[in-house]
Amino acid sequence: MSKDGLEDLLAGTAVVPVLVIDSVATAIPLARALVAGGLPILEITLRTKAALEVIRAIGVEVDGAVVGAGTVLAPGQLEQVAKVGARFAVSPGATEVLLEAARDSPVPLLPGAATASEVMHLLERGHRFMKFFPAEPGGGVAYLQALAPPLPEARFCPTGGIDAERARTYLTLSNVGCVGGSWVAPGDAVRTGDWARIRALATEAAALRKTSATS
Ligand code: 3PG
Repeated sequence: MSKDGLEDLLAGTAVVPVLVIDSVATAIPLARALVAGGLPILEITLRTKAALEVIRAIGVEVDGAVVGAGTVLAPGQLEQVAKVGARFAVSPGATEVLLEAARDSPVPLLPGAATASEVMHLLERGHRFMKFFPAEPGGGVAYLQALAPPLPEARFCPTGGIDAERARTYLTLSNVGCVGGSWVAPGDAVRTGDWARIRALATEAAALRKTSATS
């Protein structure tokens, strides 16, 4: 998929759940609950031993899920996530080595940026759509708003410290395509297997339509 295809894929959803999952046994009902609630695009972070197996299992077993890999830091990880069927990859920042590997990867990369210089660098490398991370500590809505006039080409998926209320505000920005976050799968609900609660949170999040593509 091209970089533009990635933008279409991710911007077609309001919210991308960012998930840290320890086991396939948890992953399947969790992913089913999120998809049933209306959030089919899932980012599984490579922060657990089970992450690669989880990506493969969700891709095979959960109808409707579009599963990507998060916390991809190095070229070798891009290769690994391609092998288990990840449809996209997300990195918290960007290095030359990773961007170079992404050019030849079948898995499109959503690279991270947190400053104007980093955004300029990614635009130079042909990445128009990027993750703004860490969104809240990095300046939040006001920061993204300030980037829009000088860098109108850039589009963002802000992630980091976002909840349902903040998501609503981010989604009003002209340069925001979607938001990412873990609030739709709270740790206590995952631990107790409260899939009904997670489905309800997903339904609420899926209803956060992008309210302004032009403002
Ligand atoms: C990420 O990896 O994008 C963030 O850790 C998700 O941030 P959150 O847990 O604050 O939503």
